[in-house]
Amino acid sequence: MFTLAHLSDLHLASQPRLAQLASKRGLGFINWQRKRKYVHRPEVLDALTRDVKAQAFDHIAVTGDLVNLSLPDEYQRARQWLGMLGSPHDVTVVPGNHDVYLRVAAQYPATFWGDYMRGDDGLDRFPFLRRRGNVALIGLSSGVPTGPFMATGRLGQRQIARFAELLDQAKGSFRVVLVHHPPLSPGRRHLRRLTDAATFRQVLAAKGAELLIHGHDHRRALIWLEGPHGTRIPAVGVPSASASAPHGDEDGAGYNLFNIDGAAGAWRCEMIPRQRNADGIVGDGERRTLS
Ligand SMILES: [Fe+2]
Repeated sequence: MFTLAHLSDLHLASQPRLAQLASKRGLGFINWQRKRKYVHRPEVLDALTRDVKAQAFDHIAVTGDLVNLSLPDEYQRARQWLGMLGSPHDVTVVPGNHDVYLRVAAQYPATFWGDYMRGDDGLDRFPFLRRRGNVALIGLSSGVPTGPFMATGRLGQRQIARFAELLDQAKGSFRVVLVHHPPLSPGRRHLRRLTDAATFRQVLAAKGAELLIHGHDHRRALIWLEGPHGTRIPAVGVPSASASAPHGDEDGAGYNLFNIDGAAGAWRCEMIPRQRNADGIVGDGERRTLS
């Protein structure tokens, strides 16, 4: 059996200097000071990290928004957190929109965490493929800088074309797709959606995958996407790993464990949600059989 842990959306923040608050960062900082700093708490992330480390896992996936305003200090903190979590061999990261909040930050994720986002071929490019046992992890980057009040993501034609190739290449393995933005968003999240999600879903429908995991919405979600020949692909969203309490339509902190077993054509995958309750205790949620 292979156990995959999935965490997302830490939003590690640091205090910006005045000169760093130009453009979108200024609005983001106001939002942080008014609301978000009470939601995303380092002590909550610490408790969840300790809980993950106490589990018998084979690999950890982190699906983006490790940082908050793309400040260099934040990437440094995120790097330290990743080091605590595990080695680049055992932890896989994909970036989110907050990891490339501004154009100037586009290279920061690769600079600070490149070894956690590299495929087995050793190249710095998305998507990438990592094989661990019977599991093939395919990591995409949907994080792009956007204008104020927007948090959309985009994969782009080149990435989607290579994604189709990697799904073929990894056929026969349990293919896990890692992406920050959900593959389908309701209308009310129009300014936070993946803009080329329809094309992305078409590729999944044609090529298939065994599981898709994402973050971004800070809430638990499970939808079934169309796969080839009448099959269905579970797409699972996870809450923020640092959320001190439910906030609006967002859930309190949690993560997921996936127990993966079997072989091609007869995979078994069970999801075990781990959730932090109002007393700060992390415990098992209701288990779900996904395949
Ligand atoms: Fe996000």
